[in-house]
Amino acid sequence: MNKKTYFIRTFGCQMNESDSDMFGAYLEQLGYMPTDNVDEADIVIVNTCSVRQHAEERAFTEIGDLKHYKAKNPAGKVVVVGCMAERMGKELKVKFPHIDLLVGAKSAEQFPEIMKKSGIIADTRDARATTEKIAAPDKPVRNDTKTTDESATTKITTFVTISRGCNNYCSYCVVPYVRGPEEYRPVEEIVEEITKLTANGLKEATLLGQNVNSYRSVMSVIDPASGSYTLKEADFSDLLAEIHKIVGLKRIRYMTNHPKDVSDKFIKTIASLNKVCTHIHLPLQSGSDRVLELMNRKYTFEYYYGLIRKLRYHIADISITTDLMVGFPGETDKDFKATLDAVSKIKFDFAYVFKYSPRENTEAFKLGDTVNKETKEKRHKELLDLCNAVAREKNSKYLGKLAEVLVESRQSDTGEYMGKTKDNRAVVFQSARELLGQSINIKIKEAKVHSLIGENIA
Ligand code: 5AD
Ligand code: SF4
Repeated sequence: MNKKTYFIRTFGCQMNESDSDMFGAYLEQLGYMPTDNVDEADIVIVNTCSVRQHAEERAFTEIGDLKHYKAKNPAGKVVVVGCMAERMGKELKVKFPHIDLLVGAKSAEQFPEIMKKSGIIADTRDARATTEKIAAPDKPVRNDTKTTDESATTKITTFVTISRGCNNYCSYCVVPYVRGPEEYRPVEEIVEEITKLTANGLKEATLLGQNVNSYRSVMSVIDPASGSYTLKEADFSDLLAEIHKIVGLKRIRYMTNHPKDVSDKFIKTIASLNKVCTHIHLPLQSGSDRVLELMNRKYTFEYYYGLIRKLRYHIADISITTDLMVGFPGETDKDFKATLDAVSKIKFDFAYVFKYSPRENTEAFKLGDTVNKETKEKRHKELLDLCNAVAREKNSKYLGKLAEVLVESRQSDTGEYMGKTKDNRAVVFQSARELLGQSINIKIKEAKVHSLIGENIA
C-alpha cells in the first residue's frame, strides 16, 4: 500500500516555519511522508501570515487554487493554520468551502489534538503523546527540503520556540491580537529538547520568540552538596547560559529582539558565551522619534543608537540587522529622511524594508493610510537601495579573507553548498567532498547583497 503523504506551504515568519516543521514531524510520526507535489498529497496544510496585506493576498490565492486539488482529490483534506485562520477563520470558511479544518495561531500547539478530533487523521497512540504538546521531531527538520538535498538525518540547524505571543502592541502590528499574550516555555523543557536534538547531530539552535529579550521563567538549581533544589527566576541571559552548557552544540542564535528589552546583562552575556553567534536582529522600524512614538515602540533613536554602540563596544565583530518601515501614517519627508540618516549612521549589515500595511483593529489603523501608494513605493525603493548598498559594502570586508562557516545545506539543482558565518552571512561554494555539518574555512571571492561567494581551498 502506498504511504500517505502531506504537503505544507508556509507563509510568514520563522515561527511559522518552525510550527510547520512540528506539524510535519507529527504527521511523520503517524506514517505520513512529505511531498512536493500538492496534487498527490492526502493532506494539504497552508500555514498563513497576517502581518501585511500582501502576505494575506498570497495565501488567499493559494487557498483558492486548492479548489482544483479538492476537485481532483475529493478524499484529500485542506487544513488552514496560523494567523489568518485565527484572525478571519469564519470568513475563510465561507469564502473557501473546500477548507476542511482551521487551526488558529493561538492553537498551534494543540494541532495534533485538533487534527485527531476532526477525524482527518487516525491517531490511536497514547493520548499523552499528542495532547500535551507536539513531540519535538527526533531529528531537526527545516522547511527548505524542497530546495536542498539534506536528509532528515543530516540536519544541522533548527528553530526552537522559547516563547509565543507578544505583549508589546506596537501600533501597526496585528501579532498581539492573533497570537495572544506572551507565554514562555520552561527552561528545562527547552534545554531537554536541544540536548536530545544535539545527540541526533544538531550543531546549531536558533531560539525563537516575538521578543526573546522579555523571556522569563523559573528554573531549578540543584545544590550538589545536599542534592536538594531551589527555584530561581530565569531571564533570557540565564536561558542562554543554560543552553550554552549543552555538550556537542556548537552555535546558538536567537531572534527577534525588541530594543527596549536589551539589557546590559544580556549584552555582557552574549559577549561572554562563545557559542552565541555574533549577530543580532534588532528592528529599528523608523529613525524618526515622532514616528517611533506613534508606533508605540517605547524608545528614541538616541537610545537605539546607544545600544548599537554598546553592542559594538562589547562584541567588536557583531553584525546587526534590522527591520524598517516606510509610509507609516503621517510619515513626512523629514521623518523619512531621519530613517535614511539612521541607516547611513549605523550601517546595518542587512535590513528588511517594508511598506506600511494597515491592519484592522490595530491602533494605527485609526490613523488611516495617509501616505499615498506612489510615495510609499518611492521611499521604499530609495531606502532599500541605500540599505542594499550598505549591505554589499559590509559584505565586501570579507573579500579575499577566510570565513569560518557551518555547512548547513546543499542545493539539489546546482550541487552548491551553503554555510553560514557566525555573524549570519550565507556563504555559497562548490565542493566535491561531502561537507554537511562541518565547520570549515572558505575563501571569499565575491560579495553580494544577500550572500558571499567563496571557494573551498582545503
Ligand atoms: N505593515 C508593514 N510592516 C509591518 N511589520 C509588522 N507589521 C507591519 C505592518 N502592519 C513589519 C515590522 C516587523 C516585521 C516583522 O514586519 O517591521 O518588525
Ligand atoms: Fe509586533 Fe511589536 Fe510584538 Fe514585534 S514587538 S510582534 S512588531 S507588536
